[in-house]
Amino acid sequence: MDVIIKQTSNPESIRSQCLVVPIYEKGKLSKAAGQIDKASGGQIKKMIKRGDISGKLNSHLLLHTLNGVKAERILLLGADTGKKISEADFRKLIHTTLSQLDKSKAKEACLFFDDLSVANRDAQWMAEQIAISSGNHIYQYTKTLSKPKTGSSLKKLILMTKSTAALRKAVKQGKAIANGMNTAKELGNLPGNICTPSYLAKEARALGRKYSSLSVSILEEKKMRELGMGSLLSVTAGTDQAAKLIVMNYKGGKANQKPHALVGKGITFDSGGISLKPGARMDEMKYDMCGAASVLGAMTAITELQLPINVVAIIAAAENMPAGGATKPGDVVTSMSGQTIEVLNTDAEGRLVLCDALTYCKKFKPQSVIDIATLTGACVVALGKHATGLYSNQDDFAEELITAGEVVGDRAWQMPLWDDYQPQLNSNFADIANIGGPEGGSITAACFLSRFTKDLRWAHLDIAGTAWLSGANKGATGRPVGLLTRYLISKS
Ligand code: BES
Ligand code: MN
Ligand code: ZN
Repeated sequence: MDVIIKQTSNPESIRSQCLVVPIYEKGKLSKAAGQIDKASGGQIKKMIKRGDISGKLNSHLLLHTLNGVKAERILLLGADTGKKISEADFRKLIHTTLSQLDKSKAKEACLFFDDLSVANRDAQWMAEQIAISSGNHIYQYTKTLSKPKTGSSLKKLILMTKSTAALRKAVKQGKAIANGMNTAKELGNLPGNICTPSYLAKEARALGRKYSSLSVSILEEKKMRELGMGSLLSVTAGTDQAAKLIVMNYKGGKANQKPHALVGKGITFDSGGISLKPGARMDEMKYDMCGAASVLGAMTAITELQLPINVVAIIAAAENMPAGGATKPGDVVTSMSGQTIEVLNTDAEGRLVLCDALTYCKKFKPQSVIDIATLTGACVVALGKHATGLYSNQDDFAEELITAGEVVGDRAWQMPLWDDYQPQLNSNFADIANIGGPEGGSITAACFLSRFTKDLRWAHLDIAGTAWLSGANKGATGRPVGLLTRYLISKS
């Protein structure tokens, strides 16, 4: 989606495919609506009087040509008072705009949102939101369809306002975030027989070829064995697909600046292994690499923006399958950290790959580490599909990430990481068990990871509920690329 900024003093004379103009409550017109009303000899006011359109939020009316106005179409859009509307209402307005523009078949539209305002947010924020939403809007999955669906015909949005450097930057960031989200969506939606660990590695290499600031290296199983990654390797024991540890090193900052680290869970299919999952909705476990996808999405965004920071991204990619050689419940494995782990349930595999990836990332001496994982069904029970579960060993870090998420409507909610939960991971046969029983399952999973991140500024995002939608709208959401990218922008 092309989003540009342009100013005009007379909307009635623009030869656009569609003008989008707000109408406010109590018959009040936005500035642009007023000018169009005047040019058309009072047509808009007449329509309001007749009750064809009101200022009620999200009411809308599409006009095909209007006397005295050069544009092909005019979309009247109810926008409440237009003053200090809530963030959620503004997002609804963008959504209504985009879906009505789709119906209209317009390829290009001019948005006259200049006199709208959002409580506690500025014009830059609004422009970034429009760029994010419209960029997301054009995503469509087609890869494995023999007859691709016809998608949105909308190609270009013009924000009708004074172009400033700050606004152009906001649009640029919004576009990059949307591109990152679409990258994550596509990888998530691809089936497990296409999106394998090798496929993820290939995608990472391709990104590395595109930017000289990004170097990519792939650690094969042989190298993992040499490094002592017995925990990660125990997950891949039952599959024919080779596991990959993908390392992406982005250097946008000074050479001596410590990097921020992102670590993604990349289980390209999670059958549960010998602790086999039940059949219902097992297909959705192709989404068990959405943590990895969000890391690739965030790297797509930050390379596009060429942020002046250093970032190291690590993806632990493997498939979790049952087989004769698969890891069994009760097996004890040794992690790269030296800690031994009793694998009581082979379906708690995410933490087993992450712990070795987290230990590995220490060699880069990161100033902060965020791991992202579709880690537990228990997190979905606790928070549903709206908020990502957030854990951190440093509260101010948690706060930074929550704020970053709120800015882009990609919310996270902090969960406790208290020592009280740690004894649930006790084992008689190893240093730690890989499950903590039925109580507080998302918390004990985070506690497991905390054993491997003691000396790091670390946060863990459990995205099991937020990474994809089920049912008729089944599909990846691209979360939490927005949160991650916004956090990294705030560090640049
Ligand atoms: N990938 C799953 C978590 C998951 C389940 C995410 C359903 C989204 C929807 C993870 O590997 C897993 O299987 N976790 C187990 C842990 C349990 C065995 C302690 C779970 O949540 O049931
Ligand atoms: Mn599992
Ligand atoms: Zn899993």
